[in-house]
Amino acid sequence: MTMNRKPVRKAVLPAAGLGTRFLPATKAQPKEMLPVVDKPLIQYAVEECVASGIENVIIVTGRGKNAIEDHFDASPELERFLAEKGKTQLADMIRQISDMVHISYIRQKEAKGLGDAVLTAKELVGDEPFAVLLGDVIIDAVPSATRQLMDAYDATGLGAIAVEPVAMDQIHLYGVVDGEPATGPHASDRLLRVRNLVEKPKKEDAPSNLGITGRYVLPPEIFSCLERTTVGSGGEIQLTDGLRLLAKEQGLLAYRYEGRSYDAGDKLGFLKATVEIALKNEEFGEEFRAYLKSLSL
Ligand code: UTP
Repeated sequence: MTMNRKPVRKAVLPAAGLGTRFLPATKAQPKEMLPVVDKPLIQYAVEECVASGIENVIIVTGRGKNAIEDHFDASPELERFLAEKGKTQLADMIRQISDMVHISYIRQKEAKGLGDAVLTAKELVGDEPFAVLLGDVIIDAVPSATRQLMDAYDATGLGAIAVEPVAMDQIHLYGVVDGEPATGPHASDRLLRVRNLVEKPKKEDAPSNLGITGRYVLPPEIFSCLERTTVGSGGEIQLTDGLRLLAKEQGLLAYRYEGRSYDAGDKLGFLKATVEIALKNEEFGEEFRAYLKSLSL
């Protein structure tokens, strides 16, 4: 790591969206609390932070999102109850959820877009680089996708966003990178220098097949870029617009991370994530596989 470069210690988890693609489930319940097998979506992201060496997690919440704070709070009554019943493993697991990492909360007053949600965390982040994780994308990777981006940042001092190849018939659902191979001492076939970013392009307009995958490591200068970003598509402040400005003014890298992502942000993606993660479950994965086979679809 370069001598004066500040380390990445904090992560912002935006969780203030309205979850409209998941209605009616999200009418009175945060999307981020929907369980994939046995854990709410946002817990996967917090666990990724811990695995990456992040020390402070900042969750951006809003109205109707109290369940998120309750989930990561201590539950002495529940722990005591489980301990008294001899369920010590369960009691330990419950305690670990609240002991995992230091978490702060800040509210986004109105769901004005992902860029605005990140900007809401400006004071809590301060003048240092930080990670952003979107809770509705679960990434199975060792080292974690966030750690891979942190390593790219440590090596180069430039912000890095996770990308992966996407089928062209799905490309209209992604922010897409127009990039060129990074040069210099840190060049690798996984690292691109971002020339431009296009939000949800039509297949014929897409500059590549590399979609942005919900993990970012950004320098604090992104805040000034977001402050200068005007409301874009859908009446929201788009993170992609701020990133485009950052790429122009300071440079930005796209990193083709190693790992497998599950986009659980809509109903079909959520079902696929649930099935695939359940199949890997140590306790009942094999039984579940046999069950799926028995359906002989
Ligand atoms: P999404 O677009 O997936 O979430 O944003 P959404 O807006 O809740 O969902 P739909 O599109 O209406 O179904 C990615 C992440 O950014 C957060 C969301 O909570 C989600 O975790 N977000 C989005 C905010 O925190 N604030 C916003 O204004 C928008």
